[in-house]
Amino acid sequence: MCLLIVFRLGFSNGMKESKTIVLKSPDEIAKMRKSNLVVAEIIAVIKDAARPGVATIELEKLCEAELKKRKVRSAFKGYRGYPYCICVSVNEEVVHGMPSNRVLIEGDILSIDIGVECDGYYGDAAITIPLGKISEEASRLIDVTETALSRAIEKVYVGNRLFDISYAVQSYVEENGFSVVRAFVGHGIGRELHEAPQVPNFGVPGRGARLKAGMVFAIEPMINAGGSDIVVLDDGWTAVTKDGSLSAHFEHTVAVTEKGPYILSKL
Ligand code: MF3
Ligand code: CO
Repeated sequence: MCLLIVFRLGFSNGMKESKTIVLKSPDEIAKMRKSNLVVAEIIAVIKDAARPGVATIELEKLCEAELKKRKVRSAFKGYRGYPYCICVSVNEEVVHGMPSNRVLIEGDILSIDIGVECDGYYGDAAITIPLGKISEEASRLIDVTETALSRAIEKVYVGNRLFDISYAVQSYVEENGFSVVRAFVGHGIGRELHEAPQVPNFGVPGRGARLKAGMVFAIEPMINAGGSDIVVLDDGWTAVTKDGSLSAHFEHTVAVTEKGPYILSKL
């Protein structure tokens, strides 16, 4: 989610005013599994279709068709005026890249972010993929970002603290010489795409809300090969790294259960 937008528009409608973390019943988590499984399936279809020579607008059309086929609604289209079902962020684009006539080429890295609403519950996930052969640095960035997400998910246990998740991302990323984007954060998710709490990708371990069974988070490390600063382009959406370095993004929706993390958006 976009912290900049949340702050700009205030907490009054984007994020629950109370900042209360809404707990979900097992029944609700089952519904969220459905929404998130649809997200995972569509991401897999898009991943397959994305190759050098393909324009990103074609991925939007494919996503639309897949949503229709499954009779689910896009969580992104119309969200604060965002005009598409998918976010496609190429190379130095961090998040919220918009589909266009831009043709993907060998060596690009592409982040694909999709959200749906199904039966009143939201699903949200993202991956970053290589287009053909990519540079050593790009490949390492993708691996580190994906591993950072896994490390974060390993902290999703009852009794742990929210920023244990955040610190897991930050420490792993910084050990590997990359930097964490601070302007955007992960989020609670459920009957809304963005609920409390904000889930930063940096923070002090042992701090933050205590995790309880029934909490559900979209954890989404956004990692830059260079500095952590970002700039939003004039289109009002596309976030790019300020220094032009590459950026990668992975996201899973994860429920806290008595048995540990339940990755709702995993195939
Ligand atoms: N996964 C992103 C998020 O949680 C994507 C939002 S795109 C938007 O914010 F268009 F819906 F804003
Ligand atoms: Co999200």
